[in-house]
Amino acid sequence: MNKLGLFKKKSPDDPKLPVDDIPEAVRDEYESPKQQPIKSQKKWQIWKFLGIGAIALIITIGLHFQLHQTPDKAFVSQIKQNLGIKLVEPSPTPTEVEVTPSPSPTPSIQQQENILGHLPYKEATWQELTPVFGNQNIRLRSNAAEKFNAMTEAAWAANINLVPLSGFRTLADQEYLFFEIKAKRGQVTYKRAEVSAPPGYSEHHTGYAIDIGDARSPESYLEVSFENTKAFQWLQENAGNYGFELSFPRNNPQGISYEPWHWRFVGDGHSSEIFEQARSLKEEQQTNN
Ligand code: DAL
Ligand code: ZN
Repeated sequence: MNKLGLFKKKSPDDPKLPVDDIPEAVRDEYESPKQQPIKSQKKWQIWKFLGIGAIALIITIGLHFQLHQTPDKAFVSQIKQNLGIKLVEPSPTPTEVEVTPSPSPTPSIQQQENILGHLPYKEATWQELTPVFGNQNIRLRSNAAEKFNAMTEAAWAANINLVPLSGFRTLADQEYLFFEIKAKRGQVTYKRAEVSAPPGYSEHHTGYAIDIGDARSPESYLEVSFENTKAFQWLQENAGNYGFELSFPRNNPQGISYEPWHWRFVGDGHSSEIFEQARSLKEEQQTNN
């Protein structure tokens, strides 16, 4: 008891005071066996609070990533699935990429998206390709490259400068051209397909198609205005002698935009077989007209 007549609280560190000095009502506060459960209960509540906080944080982060996944990636993978295309990442050594038809009767991209009459083509292997005159980075299948070179020389002799603009393209190249440019231009799939083939459907995969320009008219590269150049006029008169034909003339049966710059080689058995489907569509249309 202190001066005020009150009991001095006994601290657990103060063993001198007998327990009996503490009023019974407040003894519990200092009696260690009973004090322990209160402390651990508090600790448990803190851990519980921290645990719930951590779970909430994990869920929030997860939702954030789910919501911010770019829709384009989802769209691209959906299209790949629809096409049954196995795309490989660009590798330092060029490898053959398979275009395998889907085992199930999955509707084609045309049926799904109604995006014109692009036909499916297999990618040429790197070994089958040869650089063409004028640009070592542009390749065609060897036969086509040889004929293109001969055609360029003949044109040169007639004072016409043919320029190769694009030859063989991989599926990855085409994927970029189709989807990335579509996104950059904000084009809808149907509009994009009028001017570009979806990956797996470009004649450029075959190694037989080449885009040609007139060196004297660079502003008409890959433009319809190429039809007004001397080079185009010369090609119309002479390309057939070298096995080349215009793939997409005006009002072509595939419904693809007029491409005066895009020529395909059909000058041997293999190439004409590859384009047989496209050629028969053309013949069918000519018969109907
Ligand atoms: N540019 C045409 C459509 C193709 O790539 O086949
Ligand atoms: Zn082309």
